[in-house]
Amino acid sequence: MIHSFVFSPSGTSRKVADIFTKAMGMDFKTHDLTVHGIGSIYVKDTDDLVVFVAPVYAGRVPALAAERLEVVSGHGQKAVAIAVYGNRDYDDALVEMCDIISARGFNLIAAGAFIAQHCIFPKVANDRPDSSDEKKIAEFASLVSARIISDKRFDLKTVKGNRPYKKTVGVPLQPKADKKRCSSCGICAAQCPTEAIDAADPRRTDAKKCITCCRCINVCPQEARSLGGLLYKVAGWKFCKDNSRRLEPEWFV
Ligand SMILES: Cc1cc2nc3c(=O)[nH]c(=O)nc-3n(C[C@H](O)[C@H](O)[C@H](O)COP(=O)(O)O)c2cc1C
Repeated sequence: MIHSFVFSPSGTSRKVADIFTKAMGMDFKTHDLTVHGIGSIYVKDTDDLVVFVAPVYAGRVPALAAERLEVVSGHGQKAVAIAVYGNRDYDDALVEMCDIISARGFNLIAAGAFIAQHCIFPKVANDRPDSSDEKKIAEFASLVSARIISDKRFDLKTVKGNRPYKKTVGVPLQPKADKKRCSSCGICAAQCPTEAIDAADPRRTDAKKCITCCRCINVCPQEARSLGGLLYKVAGWKFCKDNSRRLEPEWFV
């Protein structure tokens, strides 16, 4: 049985997690860490495989994802780290994920970094993961399956990334609601991972709480929420220009 712990505000990490777990061909349970924390989970069965999937934010694991995984623990079960990033770089996020999983009591056997559409600048890696990524995720799954039955020790030092990790930085952009389109249905407020949107008036967002995860943009049935403004346009133009080359998945097994 696979326990898949997934943090995925805009849905692409979940997509990668689902492709991976299906390719493994085992029963699986997905624990969604995105909107709310989960109750404490102790993985009992020695034969279970644990998978942690999260996006890369500024080259790191999103702090909220790390915090929400703190209630999960095990006793040496095999585990896999999967970082999903928007075609810029995953920097230190994958080593950080490996460290988080090891600290929860699991025995890391593989780590992979996969590319998905950038949630802030969706022209970058648009429509990824695509069919080529799906094949590579399946290839990674078959290597993980082989690893499960082998006695070879996984060398954490082979994973790309640095310790100490790079400093976290926030993104100075927040999605805004178009006042005419917004019907105040409250779906964005209910689905916001950080409760940054006022449930009584969803047109108001607390900039201090917002992590720019873009979930509100993706769940709004009226397509009323978006990023915009001069900074977004200028930064977006440069970001798209600098990150238009196609990166490919990488793994360490
Ligand atoms: C605040 C923030 C920071 C990000 N930083 C990076 C980054 O450092 N490198 C990168 O390639 N993509 C970065 N991204 C893009 C996400 O990693 C990418 O869109 C990912 O697929 C989002 O996962 P999700 O759909 O599961 O939420 C960032 C996204 C956000 C919201």
